Amino acid sequence: MRHLIDLGDLSREEWDALYARASQIMDAPEQFTEICRGKIAASLFYEPSTRTNFSFQTAMLRLGGNVFGFADPNSSSVAKGETLKDTVKMVSGYADVVVMRTPWEGSAKAASLYSHVPIINAGDGGHMHPTQTMADLTTITRLRGSVDGISLGLCGDLKNGRTVHSLIKSMAKFKDIKFYLISPRELAIPDYMRSFMKENGMWFTEVTGLEAILPQLDVLYMTRIQRERFADPKDYERHKGVYVLTRRKLERAKPDMLVMHPLPRVDEITVDVDDDPRAAYFQQARFGMFARMALLEHLALQPREETLPAVEIGTRPVCTNPHCITQTQLYLPPLVRKLGGVDCCGFCDAELK
Ligand code: CP
Repeated sequence: MRHLIDLGDLSREEWDALYARASQIMDAPEQFTEICRGKIAASLFYEPSTRTNFSFQTAMLRLGGNVFGFADPNSSSVAKGETLKDTVKMVSGYADVVVMRTPWEGSAKAASLYSHVPIINAGDGGHMHPTQTMADLTTITRLRGSVDGISLGLCGDLKNGRTVHSLIKSMAKFKDIKFYLISPRELAIPDYMRSFMKENGMWFTEVTGLEAILPQLDVLYMTRIQRERFADPKDYERHKGVYVLTRRKLERAKPDMLVMHPLPRVDEITVDVDDDPRAAYFQQARFGMFARMALLEHLALQPREETLPAVEIGTRPVCTNPHCITQTQLYLPPLVRKLGGVDCCGFCDAELK
């Protein structure tokens, strides 16, 4: 692994090795305080973040390394119109690893074409969020012993929730997973995710109600309705508050079911659930820091690539997804890949029309 763009790109063996390392770090963090001494992470956050930004920063500091970057792109030359390519070329001249969150789908893949050091996708619009998935898989493995064989309910905004897309893709590595996809019809998973699940023979059912499904689940993964991804605020108003997990509803769930949430929550889990022993979301956020420590160790210690392969210069976007990075960074090459036998954008995975 040179970059972490999509956890789906990792083999099961690579994931097991990362998890094993994260576990070692969790069990004896004092033994890892010098692992990244002298290494520097760049933290480029074009979108707000609490958990991902701070857990990456603390992960690097706990490994003995250092961090620089921005949490507001307007404090950098991005505000003067600098392209993603130029920002990445500059920053990858200063850092040993680049952690990047943006609102543009496919931006981490785009950055990886121009970076001399590893790129970590810390969330690219409504597309993917692989390090959140590392936190999720670590939580399930640590608290249940294994990911294989679980019945997993994913509930909320499955269209725009990048954590859901990453988690589903990563699950192709595991055995006998049953997915219950719970969302309003308008917020169901994107077509490219449905194609992916079919192509990989994954068992799933799509429903609109949470309560009837609840007793069957081993893990319930709640997500918020992603207000910032709606073009029309009225659509957000129509969907907000559609699913609310309460302590009373939890009475229907298995006694050992895990309640997970990538956070931040708005109103989809009431605060009286926090004290239920099944509520795992705050632990999940802490596990994410250890998983990111294992990832940083793996990537920040890699040698810098002085010479990069030439990249074709594009002239116009081939992808029609309005949120795709190719819509604004017109120099990007026309990358295409097959998903479920269909031609899709090599950056954001949207089907090419
Ligand atoms: N889970 C997550 O990505 O949270 P932040 O947006 O606070 O980083």
